Amino acid sequence: MSQALSSALGTAPSSLGYFKIRVNSLIPDRSTTFDTYIMINSRMVLYLRAGDALAAGKIAHLERADVFYVPDAQRSHFKRYVFDRMNEEGLDVKVKANVLRESSITLAEEIFEKQDVEEALNDSRELITNFIDFMEEEPTAMSYLVGLSSHDFYTYNHSLDVAIYSLGLGQILGYSGDDITELGRGALFHDIGKRHVKTEIICKQGPLDDTEWVQMQKHPQYGLKILNEYGVSEAMKACCFEHHESFLGNGYPQQLPGDEIHPMARIIAITDTYDALTTKRSYNEPMSPQAAVDFMCSKLAAKYDPDMLKALRQILGRMKAA
Ligand SMILES: [Fe+2]
Ligand SMILES: [Fe+2]
Repeated sequence: MSQALSSALGTAPSSLGYFKIRVNSLIPDRSTTFDTYIMINSRMVLYLRAGDALAAGKIAHLERADVFYVPDAQRSHFKRYVFDRMNEEGLDVKVKANVLRESSITLAEEIFEKQDVEEALNDSRELITNFIDFMEEEPTAMSYLVGLSSHDFYTYNHSLDVAIYSLGLGQILGYSGDDITELGRGALFHDIGKRHVKTEIICKQGPLDDTEWVQMQKHPQYGLKILNEYGVSEAMKACCFEHHESFLGNGYPQQLPGDEIHPMARIIAITDTYDALTTKRSYNEPMSPQAAVDFMCSKLAAKYDPDMLKALRQILGRMKAA
């Protein structure tokens, strides 16, 4: 249950005072620098004390998506742990990519549960910068990151994956500095307008009917309305407002022709679809990365900027090479 929902119901979540980390944020047999708890019957039970290590054998028995809880007071210790792993000489790039992505999923979840959008926007900067730093540091980082897609569809997983893929495309297309940061943040918040679409529609198990679809298609406008209240860049607003435009000029909400769509929104149009095709939803089986790219480059090609679609193929090539 989200904290917002818990407080609306007048119940305090028993995880209050703790933040979640995914099991796979931890490297087996490596000592932690923070206390780790598990929740049993709504009560926090100490699982690992700071300084102890999670045995590889035990990790194997835990589900990949299982979570531990760490006291809020030790948040800086956890951040330091991730930072140290990212900068550890000799640690495999694939392991680093996994630690960064796994630790960012719960962070993205927190960002999306925040009622205070300003705080969420601020927090997103650090999250995106961590990925950019890693990609700049390790030439093969992007290939591994892109290969670690989520298997289930949740708004925060989807948003994080779209951000990671967009950073990958952005890197190939030559984005750098503030531009690539804004691209990553814009991608992370591209669906923020879904906050104003009814949860029953967002979570519906199956295709939407016409009325629901009309509501859903309003999320770019809702998103723009939210972002307009904060001092965000025009690029970030375009990522949100224009990511469902189509290069053919028949997208929504403005039916912009290809060259009038903001380049960052053109990138997100591609990464958003790629993620939807490769992620499992209740009503469809996910496509493999190769099948999704083939499908987008044949059946859907006219919807996207052709140069950017080429860049997506390049990412796939690098992923395979990795
Ligand atoms: Fe969207
Ligand atoms: Fe999306």
